Amino acid sequence: MIIPLAHRANQTQEYYFSVKLAEVRALMAAGHDVINIGIGNPDLMPSANTLTALSQSAQQPNAHGYQPYKGTPGLRQAITRFYKHTYGVSLDADTEILPLIGSKEGITHLSMTFLNDGDGVLVPELGYPAYRAVSQMVGAKVLEYPLLEHHGWQPDWEAMADLVTPSTKIVWMNYPHMPTGAPATQALFERAVRFAHDHRVLLCHDNPYSLILNKKPPISLLSVDGAKEVAVELNSLSKSHNMAGWRIGWMAGTKAYVDAVLTIKSNVDSGQFRPLMDAAAEALTNSDDWHRDRNAVYEGRLEAVYALLDALGCTYATDQEGLFIWANLPDSVESAETLVDNLLRQKHVFIAPGFIFGPKGNRYVRVSLCVPKERIWEAVRRISE
Ligand SMILES: Cc1ncc(COP(=O)(O)O)c(C=O)c1O
Repeated sequence: MIIPLAHRANQTQEYYFSVKLAEVRALMAAGHDVINIGIGNPDLMPSANTLTALSQSAQQPNAHGYQPYKGTPGLRQAITRFYKHTYGVSLDADTEILPLIGSKEGITHLSMTFLNDGDGVLVPELGYPAYRAVSQMVGAKVLEYPLLEHHGWQPDWEAMADLVTPSTKIVWMNYPHMPTGAPATQALFERAVRFAHDHRVLLCHDNPYSLILNKKPPISLLSVDGAKEVAVELNSLSKSHNMAGWRIGWMAGTKAYVDAVLTIKSNVDSGQFRPLMDAAAEALTNSDDWHRDRNAVYEGRLEAVYALLDALGCTYATDQEGLFIWANLPDSVESAETLVDNLLRQKHVFIAPGFIFGPKGNRYVRVSLCVPKERIWEAVRRISE
């Protein structure tokens, strides 16, 4: 006998990587040396001072109990200093920051806070899958807005305006964009804030890649005049500080939005382990040189990734930002799914098929920079054989 599931559990598919990585693990358990260049899971270490702060904090007798639902004041202050230093944005540490268990968690809590059954949510036709999945889970209606490839994958604002109805509530946006690597620009952010004002929608900007292979100084959507009235920003230490497994992110925005999300979130979880928050505060002081050195390692891997994509006959832009290279398949390849499955099963190389980011990604693949270059060259060798 099986107790019936909720409709939402039947409507939602298990996360692609959750399924696929089980296959990767099974191949590895069978003795195969799988090179996983599919996921954005940084292989580099957090800074040394971050690790010291973690172990020092764990020795403190007051480190092991429940912590404030809004995170420690020390972490919130560190986030505000980081925002000022990195983006020139001033935030109030007491009222405008909400630490999260990774920014993925924030997507759920924002959706639960703002969306009623049937409300409209605009998601990019290519984007992080959680925007769409979580919106559907809370009963909202998902509408995909087009991205213009010939305009550097920028949103098609006119098409977006046509999608807005009186019940549209949230617009999800993410630049530097995953998966296409399109950069953030001030003009784009200004346009987005204007759109949110004009259409009275909450603009949720997801900003985890601003410091990875960025060609210009990083920017925050909250730097735009009038942004705080209509927008919130998610950010995270997962990619920029090599701390994906730590599950540290945050939402930044005006007090009314932070308080509303906290009302929901405080009924769901009870915050984070204090040593993680203390160490995260330390990580946020990593110097500009530390970030430069991290990017130098990723830059050193690009040549191997391009060689891999060349070996597959793909085409790609070389000015992409973030942790991945997004590439167009040649006509000779039947489908991304077949290619990815064949590479995994025959060459033991895993790359991500583009369709997991939206149907528009059918003819694309995404390769991660989170593997040492020697391993990427080994993948090139296997593919070229
Ligand atoms: C665009 C985007 N947003 C959010 C996340 C989730 O990040 P976090 O580890 O902070 O939950 C990812 C992770 O891959 C991502 O690519």
